[in-house]
Amino acid sequence: MSGGYHHFDFAALSARDRYKLIIGTVVPRPIALVTTRGPDGRVNAAPFSFFNSLSADPPILAIGVENHADMSFKDTARNIRMTEEFTVNIVDDAMVEAMNICAVDFPPEVDELTMAGLTALPGTHVGCPRIAEAPAAFECRRHLTLELGRSREIVLGEVKGLFLRDGLVDPVTKHVDQRGLDAVGRMGGHGYARTRDLFDLRTPSLAEWTAACRVGRTG
Ligand SMILES: Cc1cc2nc3c(=O)[nH]c(=O)nc-3n(C[C@H](O)[C@H](O)[C@H](O)COP(=O)(O)O)c2cc1C
Repeated sequence: MSGGYHHFDFAALSARDRYKLIIGTVVPRPIALVTTRGPDGRVNAAPFSFFNSLSADPPILAIGVENHADMSFKDTARNIRMTEEFTVNIVDDAMVEAMNICAVDFPPEVDELTMAGLTALPGTHVGCPRIAEAPAAFECRRHLTLELGRSREIVLGEVKGLFLRDGLVDPVTKHVDQRGLDAVGRMGGHGYARTRDLFDLRTPSLAEWTAACRVGRTG
């Protein structure tokens, strides 16, 4: 303990314990249900919660893919290496159980979308499909792959196109209906979180903040 906190020396931890501490603390993490195609055209789908948007200009999304225990690539990583394309389908509450079926360690010849009862629709900017049941899908071209140690890689994808379900976006203002999106996040362990407890918090300008402080001091 140190000052009411438990401090962990990461160098002294096992990889498993570091994983548990990171996924239990960096929460909630959005979930990318990534669709790819193998060089033979076969469709693959798998969820990744080491996922986020890292830049809007250029528009970059990132996923962190761990290798299998025997160091072989997951199908997603292999397909992206071979085709340079992937689609990030956003997971909403209605499709969370189907998403979880896509995480089962099926052999490469099995189409996870079929097993999960999800529907593949053709892509526009990429050859891999998007998922009809998903509220949103980002079509990406591989931008850069960062190899981390022996077991993990971070794939950066440049967004080439975005599908948003009708009714979820105002095409003029580009305002996305967060309630309608109903995205689900991954917590630690086997936990998930819904995004239904929303609030707004605008950052004040310096002038507004200074004025509010003055009122605070005088009133
Ligand atoms: C919610 C959720 C999040 C996951 N996040 C990751 C992740 O960030 N990185 C990873 O390598 N595996 C992650 N997994 C496990 C993969 O989805 C799983 O290994 C999958 O079978 C890989 O499939 P593939 O071989 O078809 O690519 C996650 C699983 C679930 C259910």
